[in-house]
This record gives sequence, structure tokens and C-alpha cells, in this order.
Amino acid sequence: MQRFGEFMQEWLYGEGGYYRSLRIGKEGDFYTSVSVSEFFGYTLAYYLQQQLNLLPNQKIAIIEIGAERGNLISDIAFFLQENYKDFKKIDFLILEPLKPLHNIQKQNFLQKIDSKEPFIVEDFQAIKSLHYDFIFYCSNELLDAFPCELYHQEQMAFIENDTLRFQKAPAPIEQIARKFNLQISEIPLGVEEFIKNCDDCAKNWMFLTFDYGSLESRNEFSLRFFEKHTTKNLFISPKSTEYDKSFLESFGQYDITYDVNFAIWNSHFQSIGAKKLFCHRQNRALVDMGLDKVGEWYIAKYGLESFMKNSSKIRTLIEPGLLGERFFGMAFVK
Ligand SMILES: C[S@@+](CC[C@H](N)C(=O)[O-])C[C@H]1O[C@@H](n2cnc3c(N)ncnc32)[C@H](O)[C@@H]1O
Repeated sequence: MQRFGEFMQEWLYGEGGYYRSLRIGKEGDFYTSVSVSEFFGYTLAYYLQQQLNLLPNQKIAIIEIGAERGNLISDIAFFLQENYKDFKKIDFLILEPLKPLHNIQKQNFLQKIDSKEPFIVEDFQAIKSLHYDFIFYCSNELLDAFPCELYHQEQMAFIENDTLRFQKAPAPIEQIARKFNLQISEIPLGVEEFIKNCDDCAKNWMFLTFDYGSLESRNEFSLRFFEKHTTKNLFISPKSTEYDKSFLESFGQYDITYDVNFAIWNSHFQSIGAKKLFCHRQNRALVDMGLDKVGEWYIAKYGLESFMKNSSKIRTLIEPGLLGERFFGMAFVK
């Protein structure tokens, strides 16, 4: 018998795991803000540029975590190449544990940026050995890709022969459930260790991330599968443990994801002394970060007609019924 969290880890990242191939975009299973429009990355870059101006003469890295093709870091680098005077002094990295993606990410970056190569590293140790003064960690839809346990009123899900069984949750899971007042919920695994690793790589850093979810637990299951732009819930109803068995038989074929409970991440960041800079819905976060200024830059560089061709994609990023209010942007600094 296996914990659901181990099963999900293998499904997504193990041999033949889902994320070992490219999965995002029109030909894939789902869109992300990064795949919808370069304006997402440009806006993050505009915000980072304001922060970079406050850090002269420091050894700085911008690191994307959860990069898939590496489009976010490439869009950020492109904007900074065009706009930031000390662009040459910054290192651009991707933290990518899955080796089959390394070359794709590198080539993708080089297609947009001709004056710099990205460093692609497999683990935090490699980042640590580069001794940065300040690191900007950036990610989109990373947190919802952490494996999780399925917790239901003092019980937890285990897998045996593709069948889900709920049994008494072990003490560490029970403690998390009590701490965050969870009765029915996904419980993400490895959050504490991940944040500690980020913290160990530099004395000062910022962690900027976007994802979908809620600020507190809704006390119901949200675990779902994505395939070819359709989504299916594992559980027949979000409060019950009754589930659709057919999904569990298609190992590694679909994306598995769930709503992020930002309270859990918030608490772990604060417990290592990081300060929350903001946590807003995506539309507010992007506007506050300078989406309109990016528009002005784009029009000045490429013209109004080209901007208008992009306008429906920009709307997708911020419209409440699309990505604007289902997603949150959150930043921590130390
Ligand atoms: C939903 S995809 C997001 C892709 C991309 N950021 C975008 O927005 O289009 C999640 C990615 O996170 C990666 N990932 C998950 N956990 C990770 C971890 N601990 N370290 C680095 N990458 C991770 C997965 O391999 C996958 O490429």
C-alpha cells in the first residue's frame, strides 16, 4: 500500500512521469498565464527591474522554478535586455530537476536572448555554490504541482492496486490538519523543506509566485485531472471520499492538480522570517506591478497595431472570469 502523495509524485515526476514531456499550450492539456501571453513575463520583469534598481553592485540571479519550456524566464530576460542598463551583470537560471527538459529550456531561452546563456541546474546545491548576494525566485503554477496527501476527517488516502482507501492519518499529517484547521483537504508535501532550500541559497531573496487557489482552506477536495483542455474531478462530490476509479488507472497520462491553500505557504514563509510583500488576485497584482507601463513600452517599440493584436490575450490574463480572479500573485522577501 502506498500513500497517495508518493503515488502522485511518481505519476508526475517518476519514470514515464507526466511532466517529463511538454504538456502546456494549444497542443497540450492546458494553458497557463505564461503560455497565454508574453505580457505576463514582461510585467514580472518590469516589477523586478524596480527592485533591481535598489540593489546596485550585488551579485544577482533571477531563477525560474517550475519552468516547463522556460518561457517565463525567457520573457523576463527579454524585457530586461531591452530595458535594464545592467542586464549583462545578472545571471538567469532555471531550477529543473527533470533532465529531459534541460535542452528544450536552453534552446528556447537562446531563441529570445542572443547575448546570454541561461544556467540550468538540477538542485539547490548548485545554486548555493554560485554564492549570490540576492536571488529573485519566480514561478507560475509551481505550487499546485507539489504532490499532496488527501486528508478527510482524520483519515488519509492510500493506493493499492489502483484503488483508493482512506485510513487513519499518521501523526505528522494530523498535526498539519489541526494547525491549519483542515477537515477535508489536499495537504501539500515538502513545502517546509522547499522554502528552507530557497532560504539557504542566499542571505537575501524574493520569492514571486502565481497560482490558483484560495487564501484559506475551503474544506473540500479540489483534486482534478487535466487532459486536452478538459478537467475532471477525482471525487464525485468535493466533501465525500467517493471517487472515479477510471483516472487512477491511466498512470502519468493526465496532469494532476489541486487548489493551492495559500495560508499553508504563507505560514511556512513567515516561519523562516520572510516578509509578505503582497498577496492579491492576479488582475490586481499585474496592474500593481506595472502592466500599463509595459503596454506603453510595447506600443512605443512595436506600435499600436501590434499591441491591439495582443489585447485579447492581455484581457485573458486579467479578466475576472478567465485568469484574472481565479489566480493569485504572492511575493515574499527576506
Ligand atoms: C504547471 S507546470 C508550470 C509551467 C510554467 N511555469 C507555466 O506557467 O507555463 C509545473 C512545473 O513545475 C515543475 N515542478 C514541480 N515541482 C518542482 C520542484 N520542486 N522544483 C522544480 N520544478 C518543479 C514541473 O516539472 C512542471 O514543469
